[in-house]
Amino acid sequence: MTATRGLEGVVATTSSISSIIDDTLTYVGYNIDDLAENASFEEVIYLLWHGQLPTAGQLNELKEQLAKDAAVPQEVLNQFKTFPINKVHPMAAIRTAVSSLGLFDEEADVMEKDANYRKAVRLQAKLPTLVTAFARIRKGLEPIAPKRDLGFAANFLYMLTGEEPKDIAVEAFNKALVLHADHELNASTFTARVCVATLSDVYSGVTAAIGALKGPLHGGANEQVMKMLTEIGSVENVDSYIHEKLNNKEKIMGFGHRVYRKGDPRAKHLREMSEKLTKLTGESHFYEMSTKIENIVTSEKGLPPNVDFYSASVYHSLGIDHDLFTPIFAVSRVSGWLAHILEQYENNRLIRPRADYTGPGMQTYVPVE
Ligand code: MLT
Repeated sequence: MTATRGLEGVVATTSSISSIIDDTLTYVGYNIDDLAENASFEEVIYLLWHGQLPTAGQLNELKEQLAKDAAVPQEVLNQFKTFPINKVHPMAAIRTAVSSLGLFDEEADVMEKDANYRKAVRLQAKLPTLVTAFARIRKGLEPIAPKRDLGFAANFLYMLTGEEPKDIAVEAFNKALVLHADHELNASTFTARVCVATLSDVYSGVTAAIGALKGPLHGGANEQVMKMLTEIGSVENVDSYIHEKLNNKEKIMGFGHRVYRKGDPRAKHLREMSEKLTKLTGESHFYEMSTKIENIVTSEKGLPPNVDFYSASVYHSLGIDHDLFTPIFAVSRVSGWLAHILEQYENNRLIRPRADYTGPGMQTYVPVE
């Protein structure tokens, strides 16, 4: 399949993967290792949207804007109650809710630069509110409003549970957000760019991107990893389960990557975090299962784990419902989508690759008798 042959690449200044040399991932030239260890997610948002790290004043301003815009119109929250809420996947509900948000934004179709930036802030601010509200409403609980004095990562966990999270949980969640923020021209980002390159609006671009992220060959993979770990059940079962899959040439979720050659640099940060979190929970069997699977798949198939593999056990340790793993990917990746959307508008050209036609040659139409 040569679906992208002849495709004109887009210009992007956000993240880059140097797979030819050493599989380094950078955001605006900053190594992901440095950012994962030291940066807050809010700093990363600013970096991706402005092409530079913020000053203390700029960071505060962004945080205040995000706090101010976090509330979601009641109509959109009420909409969740009209869904078959315990049957739909949260990604489908969030995709629909983001589309609805556009209906309540008076600037939705205003295509000026400042208005587009304001919409970016609104969407980034509202996504955690949407995801956590959905998670609570389906359990019959009231949504919780964010706290002004908590950062982005802490607020997400607070809105989910109603309890102020421990420092180690905030560290893990912030790291996961930083690591998922942007990733070159991945499928959902490409989708967002194709959509807005028709000069469609920001809400349409993000709705389309959420649809692309939902699939198990993209963001949906972290939930599938958790399904696999749950199915395996114990460290003792890893050997037989994985070998059976490998012998049957079946895919092991969370391994390999289209772009990286040696390995996904994001995985090691999540592996470390996953290990650290065993102290918080006192439960280590998912972490131990994960490392055992990694040993087998890496040594026997030469496939290293990708970002989805250890994010699963990290989120599980934080007590998060398994079907929220992919929505959390969206809460982070929306920062990258928005950076690309703003960049696309800056110097827009329609993205319209050609299809490689492999159907029949010319035929003569004969009407049905
Ligand atoms: C991502 O972070 O988007 C995934 O690793 C998929 C990709 O980059 O193609």
